[in-house]
Amino acid sequence: MADRYLSFTATAPGRFLTARLGLPQPAALSRWTAERPALDGHLLHLTAGGPSGLDLAPVLARTGLPTTTETAGAGTGTEAAGAAAGTTGSAGTTRPAAVVLDATGVRDVDALAEVHAALHPVLRSVAPSGRVVVLGAPLDARDHHQAAVQQALEGFVRSLGKEIGRGRTVNLVRLTDASAAESTLRFLLSPKSAYVSGQVIGVGAEAPDGPVDWVLPLIGRTALVTGGARGIGAAVAETLARDGAHVVVLDVPQADEDAHRVAARLGGSALTLDITAADAGERIAAELPDGLDVLIHNAGITRDRRLVNMPAERWSSVLDVNLASVLRTTDALLAKGALRTGGRIVATASIAGLAGNAGQTNYGASKAGVAGLVRSLAPRALAEHGVTVNAVAPGFIETRMTAAVPLFIREAGRRMNSLAQGGLPVDVAETTAWLAHPASGAVNGQVVRVCGQSLLGA
Ligand code: NAI
Repeated sequence: MADRYLSFTATAPGRFLTARLGLPQPAALSRWTAERPALDGHLLHLTAGGPSGLDLAPVLARTGLPTTTETAGAGTGTEAAGAAAGTTGSAGTTRPAAVVLDATGVRDVDALAEVHAALHPVLRSVAPSGRVVVLGAPLDARDHHQAAVQQALEGFVRSLGKEIGRGRTVNLVRLTDASAAESTLRFLLSPKSAYVSGQVIGVGAEAPDGPVDWVLPLIGRTALVTGGARGIGAAVAETLARDGAHVVVLDVPQADEDAHRVAARLGGSALTLDITAADAGERIAAELPDGLDVLIHNAGITRDRRLVNMPAERWSSVLDVNLASVLRTTDALLAKGALRTGGRIVATASIAGLAGNAGQTNYGASKAGVAGLVRSLAPRALAEHGVTVNAVAPGFIETRMTAAVPLFIREAGRRMNSLAQGGLPVDVAETTAWLAHPASGAVNGQVVRVCGQSLLGA
């Protein structure tokens, strides 16, 4: 299962040989660890399209990265709040580990040139595994010039993500309020987002009320993870527990032992239950009489066959686990008021549902259905229950499911993304933890891919 090619290209002969043969050269990604929780270097804050209405500097300062602020064409930088606030490192001399380009003020094609002017001179110096985050404004329905150039930022970001290399990522955040986007910016400007690239994330205007615990954000909260006994679900359970949650690991009775082992390790509890049971929602509610704060719909199965060869049972079992049970349990738990105000629902889609995949009409349909559910329910769940609803859409993730894929197909799946490697379960888990964060209330109805910017449909 291990990605031996990635280890090989990390050696000098490996680099030489793969370069000569024109083969992909994936860079080992820096991921979050307790010892190295932040990016290694400073943050360059640039602006295009004139002064922005965002009060960004204090939010960037709180990322903990020393910040240098430059206006397009100004040349020299000024050390800003991050350094002034006492963070370490010399912002003027180290390579930027992250660049934030505020392009919210770009309203016409001339101003769009400032995006080029701002990034062109600095990109080469961005550190390996570094971050480029472009900030855009919502499209203005009354100004088609603004809408054109703000939409242009999407094509720009997705193209830059495909060429930047060296484990660096590029994402676009559409926002109107910097503090509402703090949890999102902290996530994207940290090693936690190592496998998230080429994404466009919309953030609303509602800033968190009250203080936020950035170290143990989920302390005192209960999270339920379906399919939590292994793979991505186990990683999600572990990451939510790291963030302070009491985690309930739900899985099928056959996985009872694994579910209990994971729960015991995390100081949580296990609940063995087939999520397709008609009364699954009621049984979860009965198990958690005080309610829950975070509901992670992760359980999923594949039963691949081309449609011409697919018996009805393969169709219905996949639709039942991956979509119908998600709809049923969500409805039941919301109807019972089991999700507390400030709650979070994160469902699991897949790039196969967004781009389509031969042999997966059942799976693709179920996962596209998850995206539809999220987009429709999100505004109502927030208005009526104070609960956000989002989805993660994993690409190729190194799990038992993908280890079972035949060698050549597996190798193609791994490399066909901008980072030229598979993601790890923890990459999906970190993205889930950001969406489950109490400060992420302004992120709602989003489907965020965790796919290293897969070439499939991105
Ligand atoms: P996995 O097969 O390793 O784990 C899935 C877990 O869900 C298992 O523990 C299984 O027992 C549980 N489960 C299955 N049916 C259940 C049911 N009826 N009730 C309760 N639990 C049930 O899968 P993996 O790779 O960890 O995937 C997790 C999620 O991520 C799934 O929804 C999958 O479709 C999705 N995904 C995975 C990708 C990958 O590359 N591994 C890519 C895209 C999406």
